[in-house]
Amino acid sequence: MKSDKLWGGRFGSATDAEVETFTASQLFDRRLAEQDIAGSSAHARMLCHCGILTEDERDAIIAGLKTILEEVQTDRFPWSDEHEDVHMNIEARLIELIGDAGRKLHTARSRNDQIATDLRLYARLYIDRINGSISALQNVLIDAAEREADSVMPGLTHLQAAQPVTCGHHLMAWVEMLERDWQRFLDCRKRVDVSPLGSAALAGTGFAIDREMTAKELGFDTISRNSLDAVSDRDFVIEFQSTASILAVHLSRICEDLSLWASQRFGFVDLGDAFCTGSSIMPQKKNPDVVELVRGKTARVIGNLTAVLVLMKGQALAYNRDNQEDKEPLFDTVDTLLACLGILGHMIPGLVFNRDKMRAAATEGHTTATDLADYLVRKGVAFRDAHAAVGQAVAAAEASQTDLADLPLATLRGFCPAVDNDVFEVLTLDGSVQSRDHVGGTAPAQVRYQIQDARTRSKQR
Ligand code: ARG
Repeated sequence: MKSDKLWGGRFGSATDAEVETFTASQLFDRRLAEQDIAGSSAHARMLCHCGILTEDERDAIIAGLKTILEEVQTDRFPWSDEHEDVHMNIEARLIELIGDAGRKLHTARSRNDQIATDLRLYARLYIDRINGSISALQNVLIDAAEREADSVMPGLTHLQAAQPVTCGHHLMAWVEMLERDWQRFLDCRKRVDVSPLGSAALAGTGFAIDREMTAKELGFDTISRNSLDAVSDRDFVIEFQSTASILAVHLSRICEDLSLWASQRFGFVDLGDAFCTGSSIMPQKKNPDVVELVRGKTARVIGNLTAVLVLMKGQALAYNRDNQEDKEPLFDTVDTLLACLGILGHMIPGLVFNRDKMRAAATEGHTTATDLADYLVRKGVAFRDAHAAVGQAVAAAEASQTDLADLPLATLRGFCPAVDNDVFEVLTLDGSVQSRDHVGGTAPAQVRYQIQDARTRSKQR
């Protein structure tokens, strides 16, 4: 039996059944159906504009594609491995629906520029959706930061109490991290937003087509300049995955903080019953599984980046079938990120911070030691000498199991005579945070500026 494939002309026998299953991608690349149909409609219009298709043929193709889109959207499309991938499934169905005109659609085109186009349209769409979700998460974090602008908590370095900070300041740090992710996606979008259509298989096409026209129809910013490059490189997917991985790493860090804060040892925040799960054996447990899962899902996003990097490595120009393997990691990253951003955006508004516990924790660990050293510097002591004197005072506090801020004036004076009555103002938590009143500092007033700034940026989007 001769091959009955759309590409089967030169084949003397049918495809081996196992090969058909092995090479088929329709099970997953059907997710590109909408992009594929948009690309084909634009291509058909352009072919007609250039005199390659008649108006009747164009109209029949576009009507057929519309029917197919409806079939896809209502789950009635007859997907089959027999037609390998999203492109051939749709083309075969088009021919079935409209006959001969359908057989002309693939003029001046190859699946190689077709898949590159579909993937770019898809990546562009999901960059916009992910950025929308990033903004939404930022907005709920900004709201929370506003509520906690004055709440004092211990700021940590090396996970050790370092200096008092405001909780709002901490939350706004997350907003900043997400801001760069948003910017990175926007930047990546520029390199995604390029039309490869017309590159055909690898060398371009002998037909007098209008590449600008299809690019414009599909809303692409520009057209690719080299057909070999355009059908072969998936660096835009790699860039998307890199950007996604950095975002996922940020989300994992946010979740690690939340998981620490929700632990009994910290007790800074209640994540809410609706966002925790229980244990099948320990009746008392309320586990922060959502934040742990977001943290855990970072692994697969980074894995997906690794997959496409290794996939591309060492590939000779131009298109190779290896590239079919770029899709599942991309879809997985998109699904994972949208789910993680969505659930966090949903959870943050319900967080209940325990201000007393945060404040109490900030008084432990001599967190105002730096303020005392700075105080001595203002009294004329060199910083190194001040550092040494405060170090001794901290050791004395530790020995008597009290906090630096609770040492009597006379004891403090013993370490440094420059200490005066006014020292206790700088040793308070509020004095400490309020003194850091410059751009980027933790003072509540500065946090409110940051919030205002972030809200303005968010409104400009
Ligand atoms: N399914 C293929 C992919 O994802 C489409 C392009 C196939 N091209 C080819 N010459 N076999 O890359």
